Amino acid sequence: MSMHEITLHVNGTKRTLQVKSNELLLNVLRDRLYLTGTKYGCGIAECGACTILRGDKSVMSCLIPAVVADGWEITTAEGLADGDRLSPVQQQFVDKAAIQCGFCTPGMVVTSTALLRENPDPDEAFVKDYLRGNFCRCTGYIAIVSAVLAAAEQMKEEKK
Ligand code: FES
Ligand code: FES
Repeated sequence: MSMHEITLHVNGTKRTLQVKSNELLLNVLRDRLYLTGTKYGCGIAECGACTILRGDKSVMSCLIPAVVADGWEITTAEGLADGDRLSPVQQQFVDKAAIQCGFCTPGMVVTSTALLRENPDPDEAFVKDYLRGNFCRCTGYIAIVSAVLAAAEQMKEEKK
């Protein structure tokens, strides 16, 4: 198996590593960089547990060969907080009890972050549609949608 040198910019840190041509970005993040917040759920781009940010856009890392991600700016769930201060989305997921088992939560929070960067003033229908690729088996989604809407309000307040 041929090896390739790639450079990723992950959560603000430049990481250069050798990867196999068939190595998946999700596995590199979890097993090589120990960023285990990004979860392996379905492995076939259907559940959203593996969602990361590429720049401001959410992407599912489970089907992306690591070689394809050479040069990408990546943010994982671990990179959303500002030091000890949770991001508005993270804080509202806590405050609204939008977390039960937590398996979907990193992907949900990352996708919700992309959502609010794209649309800082979403309505409920927009949030539900945007999160349709992220599955949660526990919460019933109501608290998650509520958390995203509350995060939007928090971000607007913080901008004033
Ligand atoms: S693990 Fe990637 S979408 Fe399910
Ligand atoms: S909180 Fe358990 S899958 Fe969402």
